[in-house]
Amino acid sequence: MKYTSLLRAFSLTAVFAVTASAGAAEGKALYASKCAACHGPAGEGKDAIAKMFKVTLQHLGSKEIQAKADADMKKAITAGQGKMKPVAGLSDAQIADVIAHVRTLKK
Ligand code: HEC
Repeated sequence: MKYTSLLRAFSLTAVFAVTASAGAAEGKALYASKCAACHGPAGEGKDAIAKMFKVTLQHLGSKEIQAKADADMKKAITAGQGKMKPVAGLSDAQIADVIAHVRTLKK
């Protein structure tokens, strides 16, 4: 009995770990297609875009951006933020994956 629940806890953890990393890989691909055109492959921000929108694009890996809660990042993506228009065509799960990837850009 005890052994079974231990085993179950272990396999749940393993499944979670695999899902989490698959999410980050998926997020990387989504980031490349949906965000990198403006934010750059590493989150550094494209100068041409900053000029066009007349904004300073903060590095997505900066302390300020990383300090945002996932919910705030999600809001920027789904509702837009300042000069950034909402990014269309992402499911909730895909948004979570993109945010997981943005977390890996931390400097
Ligand atoms: C068409 C260009 C463009 C695309 C595509 C884009 N962004 Fe942005 N993003 C911007 C601009 C410009 C700003 C700055 C808005 C401002 O300061 O007014 C911004 C701001 C942000 C912010 C908030 C930064 C802050 O200062 O609060 C986050 C987070 C963000 N983007 C994430 C993403 C993610 C994740 C994606 C992809 C799903 C994405 N963006 C796609 C142009 C873009």
